[in-house]
Amino acid sequence: MSPPVPIREAFAPGAVGRALTVRGWVVQRRSSGGILFLRVRDRTGQLQVTGRREALGEEGYRAAEHLQVEGACAVTGTLAEDPRAPGGRELRAARIDIIDAGEPFPILKEQTEEFLLDQRHLAIRSPELVAMFRLKAGLLKAFRSFFDQEELLEITPPILTGNAAEGGAEAFQVDYFGRPGYLSQTAQLYLEAMLPPHERVYALTPSFRAEKSRTPRHLTEFQHLEVELAWEDLDGLLDFIERMMVFVLHEVARTLPAELERLGRPPEELRAIRAPFPRTTYAEAIEELRAAGFPVQFGSDLGTVEERALTLDRNQPRFLTRFPAELKAFYMLRSPNDPRTVEAADLLGPEGYGELLGASARETDVARLEARIRAVGADPKEYAWYLDLRRHGNIPHAGFGLGVERLLRFLGRREHIRDTTPFPRTPSRHTP
Ligand code: 4AD
Ligand code: MG
Repeated sequence: MSPPVPIREAFAPGAVGRALTVRGWVVQRRSSGGILFLRVRDRTGQLQVTGRREALGEEGYRAAEHLQVEGACAVTGTLAEDPRAPGGRELRAARIDIIDAGEPFPILKEQTEEFLLDQRHLAIRSPELVAMFRLKAGLLKAFRSFFDQEELLEITPPILTGNAAEGGAEAFQVDYFGRPGYLSQTAQLYLEAMLPPHERVYALTPSFRAEKSRTPRHLTEFQHLEVELAWEDLDGLLDFIERMMVFVLHEVARTLPAELERLGRPPEELRAIRAPFPRTTYAEAIEELRAAGFPVQFGSDLGTVEERALTLDRNQPRFLTRFPAELKAFYMLRSPNDPRTVEAADLLGPEGYGELLGASARETDVARLEARIRAVGADPKEYAWYLDLRRHGNIPHAGFGLGVERLLRFLGRREHIRDTTPFPRTPSRHTP
């Protein structure tokens, strides 16, 4: 047996007629008239294998017949042209080594969503999920390369924390040696602390939300990509976000067209996304919704339904800006020319996908921060270290947090956010 080669080499020019070994997992198996047909998959592709009884010998043929779907094997043979085979080539086996014949694979065509979630450790081998996790890796690579270009420093903030920065009710509490601890909901406060020495920072970390809401866009654990920029105001931050979104969307369209197609998102649709994105104030959005018959007024929280209505017939993202302070977190900067609103924006995805990221300029006034912390029912003492940042080189700054799975839900056109993460965590499930 020659050293195994990646399956993609079987499709290289000049490969026909070569003797080679590939190894991988069985996608399909059937036999008829003393010929065994296998479709074998590795990370680089799929190859049809034919094994004739005469070529493999009686014993070898029988052993290979026991290979199950998702069983593992190594096949040595000669590569031949066959117009009926996928990709026009097949490997005519001289020998099939069984690495693990496997038990009957439990995942068949017709199965309930619950069954597939119970079998997630096996279901992640499906072509859609394979495409999704390649897309996810490619997307994160694109973000990192944009941040490199823009000279942002990657930070590794803690996940176990002593404060619940985005509201206590939705924090997972843990017993931290007898004291309350929380699983991080956001790295923002730590990123703000990193600004004076580094000015431009980002972090990619899991964030946790103990929201019981069973919606197609909420996970209890998600990948949170957060950026914090010194010297920036809201408008400057939104310019940065536009550049970033256009860069990463065009980059995945360029590097992962096959994965996007497989998921039902033609790459052209991403290439057609261009800056600037429309910027609509919250107040204008309320008027737009009222005109469409929604019973909302200034002060109403915009949920899934309203966000969907605001973007359903659009193929470009849009920003909603300057929300009422009461609807938003304590750390957001008051608008200089409207005391009712904060310098915040949400980016809504096209086609009704809703909020992809939340951004704001940060409040720098200590007294106002303390008052806002009290107003949300928390104790400023718990935020002592954060407030201290306003006493030592306090500067204007702004940042945002993007839900990686929210963006992937749009990119990969998925109905439910759970299909953007290998082992989804939702209120009813934390296993497998
Ligand atoms: O809007 P959020 O709660 O904002 C923050 O946490 C800020 N501290 C971020 C920052 O400025 N550094 O969350 C940010 C984003 C949302 O826009 C959404 O995309 C995503 O995180 N997100 C979730 N994604 C999946 N499941 C959930 N339960 C999510 N909650 C928020
Ligand atoms: Mg938000």
